[in-house]
This record gives sequence, structure tokens and C-alpha cells, in this order.
Amino acid sequence: MSKLQNHILVIFGASGDLTARKLIPSIFNLHKRKLLPECFAVLGVSRSAFSDVEFRDKVVNSSTFLKDKNDITPKELEEFSSKLFYQSSDPADRNSYDALKERLLELDNRCNTEGNYIFYLSTPPSLYPIVPEHLSAIGLSDESNGWKRLIIEKPFGYNLKTAKDLNIQLKRCFSERQLYRIDHYLGKETVQNVLVTRFANSIFEPLWNRNYIHHIEITAAESVGVEKRGGYYDSSGALRDMVQNHLLQVAALVAMEPPTKADSYHIRNEKLKLFESIRPYKEEEIRTHVIRGQYVESSINGKKVKGYRQEEGVDAKSRTETYIAMKFFVDNWRWAGVPFYIRTGKSLPTRVTEVVIHFNNSPHHLFSQRTKLNKHNQLVLRIQPSEGMLLKLGMKVPGGGFEVEPINMDFQYNSLTDQQLPDAYERLLLDAMQGDSTLYARGDGVQAAWEFIDPVLSYWESHPNETIYGYPAGTWGPAHADQLIEGEDYGWRYPCKNLTDNGQYCEL
Ligand code: BG6
Repeated sequence: MSKLQNHILVIFGASGDLTARKLIPSIFNLHKRKLLPECFAVLGVSRSAFSDVEFRDKVVNSSTFLKDKNDITPKELEEFSSKLFYQSSDPADRNSYDALKERLLELDNRCNTEGNYIFYLSTPPSLYPIVPEHLSAIGLSDESNGWKRLIIEKPFGYNLKTAKDLNIQLKRCFSERQLYRIDHYLGKETVQNVLVTRFANSIFEPLWNRNYIHHIEITAAESVGVEKRGGYYDSSGALRDMVQNHLLQVAALVAMEPPTKADSYHIRNEKLKLFESIRPYKEEEIRTHVIRGQYVESSINGKKVKGYRQEEGVDAKSRTETYIAMKFFVDNWRWAGVPFYIRTGKSLPTRVTEVVIHFNNSPHHLFSQRTKLNKHNQLVLRIQPSEGMLLKLGMKVPGGGFEVEPINMDFQYNSLTDQQLPDAYERLLLDAMQGDSTLYARGDGVQAAWEFIDPVLSYWESHPNETIYGYPAGTWGPAHADQLIEGEDYGWRYPCKNLTDNGQYCEL
């Protein structure tokens, strides 16, 4: 890794949850691992009135988010805290930016950070077009004196039109090269490992196509409901919250062509090509290929579990989907005819994110099988938890005859290191500090992903009575999603069973 250049990280929305929960702990870990440059400062910006000391106290000393606090020495904490500063100002107000610029110059002189700034937008999305405009108006996107980078949190738009507008607005103020659109899934080690698995091993590539693969399944299940985010989630839903970004990004890494080089330009070009190859839905297909659900009240081990409509901040008649399963095709040479299935949901029986490559059945069955469902081989890329990879094979049962038993060849990712896997934000922040945007989403890719998703949203909007299924909290979503998967012997891989004591599926 090349040495990082001195810089200041300016966090807009610094009094918010993300700063305390993810950003500061990740920066602290970088500090602890001695990866930060010698001259470095964080400047938190938001409307709350904090002094530097109060800000340090909030995000460091009183923080419950710094991991292994027992492991941290007071000296480390003090050293780290001394790099944090705070500016109370309203990011929406153009007049506050003169003072911000002054403060940056002062820190530059004090911390020797050479005019290199990263601006991090951890604000409500309504400020995404506004802050860059104010920064640019005051010369803070100009790179004649030090580099300038802008990190933006999702959502990148609410639909295709707003995504396009946001891209236009951002590019009016910063060049694409300066933009870092964060998708924290790309910062996960195991998501990056999809590329390494595919392109560092010659055994997979010959099989990685329509001739050997029956279908591909991507699941991101969460056992929690919407928790305290009902207000946000109710105007988002699973399609916007998880599919348009995280799951399509994972699908792109699984399905894209090999890039010529492992750099930001080439990898993101291949991802774009993949997004552009996803076959758009015809209107009549949306009903059959996209199944939505919403969790309803249930009982697990005798304990009542809330339904989505009972969650704080959620409309009592909400039709927002908390579950989605969809089937789509990629129209290119490699994947012609191979269905891709994606599903994600809240309040499912467990937390698991995995990609399952389902290989074709062997063409001629010579041997009897013990388990019907394991007639075909599966490669399971376990994104989280118990990160790793599983290859499902059939082996001969010892003894007479030729009975086949399904077995697992299981690799645990943590066997590669003694250290804890770094948090996605840690990796992504480090990359932005280095000027490497490989693991960030590019504007054209984000837009292409919206091109696919937008017709589904429009269809739901123009068909307000279209079915949304209720599934009891703690179950694997609407049973109708099972019918999406075609073919004898094939089905979703269920890593565990439904948890509920009772519970009926219903139409909402
Ligand atoms: C976020 C979504 O982007 O990703 C959340 O807004 C979701 O709703 C989260 O819970 C899942 O991330 P992870 O890393 O826990 O899989």
C-alpha cells in the first residue's frame, strides 16, 4: 500500500448516527493500525452546537461504538481525539461556507494537511445536491491547491429520474474522478473475494457460464425488522434499500466479464456492461417475476413479534415491501437463458447473505442419491456471517454399492488471518484516502441499475392494488417466492427453517 498523503476529512452530518456508529470507529481503527497519514484531521460539521472538546467526548470518550475499548490505551484515545475538530454550521446555508473555508485553512496550517480534503456527505439526501454546489461556489472543489474528493452515502436518487438529476448536479460541481459513491457491500472482504475466487482460480472460469450453471441465487436475509428506521424505510422499501444498490452490485461481480486490469476503470466498465445487459421486464412479467412481501405479526417461542405496520414511524396502512424476491435474465453470450434469483427481506429467520451457484444436474444418473435436493453441485459464496465458501459435492457412501452422499467442502475465511476482518467502512475510507475508487459505485453504473429497477417502481405506483403478500415475522417470506424458481430438484437454499409457532401467509 502506498503511503497516504496528508489530508483533512470533513464530515457533513457529524452529529448523526452514522458518524458515531461507523465513521469514527473506522477512522479510529485506521489510526490504531497506523494507516493514517502523519498529518491528518477530521472536521465534523453539522448544525448542533458542539465545541471540539464536546464533539470528541461524544464520538470518542462516551462512544459505545469503539470496538474492544478495553484494548485501547488512554494514550491512543488521546492521540486520536486530538485529530478531531468540530464546526457548528448549517450545511444548507451558503453563508456558513466562508467560515468553513477559514476553518479549513486554519487546520491546514496547524495540521500541515496541504489543501487535500475529503468531504463526506453523511447528511439527509435532500442535501446531496446542495452541499456540493456550495463547496464548488467557494472554490472547494478546485484542485489547483491540493486534491478534493467527495464521498456520498446512498441513496443515489429515489428513482431513475432523481438519480440522473443527482448525477448531473454532482458533476456540475465535481468531476466523476473526484466522486466516491459509497456502497458498503463493496467494502465487505467476502464481496471483494468474489472477484478473487473467479479470476485467481482457473478452475472456475470454464464452468462459469450457461453451459454448466443452471441458475444463480443471491440472498440477503436479515433477522431484524426495521428497528428505529421506520420513518426512512417506509418511503424506501426493500427494492430501493437493498436491491438497486447492494444486491445488484454483488450480482455484477458474480456475472461480469473478466476485466483487463484490476483497477477502478476496468472493473467498473465491466460492471456497467453487466447492468446494461440485464433484460428489462415487460410489464406483464413484473407481476410474475417480482414477488413482494411485508412482515406481519407472529409469535416465536410463545413471544409476540411485531408486524411491520406496528413499527414506529410506519404508516398503519403501509404497502411498503419489506421482502422482495425477483427473477431476471442477463442477455449476453455467457448467461443467455440462465435465470438469476435475488431475494432480500427483514424479519426473516436468520441473518445470512450468500451467493449460490447452482450447477446443472449431471446428464446421466448412474447412482442412487440419498438426498433428492442435492442432485446437483452448488458453490456457496458466504458473504456473511461465517464468511467463507462451501462446495457441495456427492461422494460415495463407504460400503457396498454406489450410494451417493452429499458432502460439503467448507472453507472459513477467518482461517486466513488472526485478525478480525476489517469493517467495510474502514476499507472504503482507506481507499478514498488513497484515491482508489474501485470499490465505489460509478455514476453510469448507478444509473444503469436504476434503468432496470425503475419500471418495477412505476408499475407498483400505477397499480396500487397489485398483490403484496403478508409473511409472518420469522419466516422465509411469501411462499409464492418459491414458485419463482424453475426446474425439478431446484429451490431456494434455506439455511434454516421458519421460526414461528404458527402464522399464516396472507394477502395484504
Ligand atoms: C443498508 C440498508 O444499506 O444495509 C439497511 O439501508 C440494511 O436496511 C443494511 O439493514 C444491511 O447491511 P449489512 O451490512 O448488515 O448486511
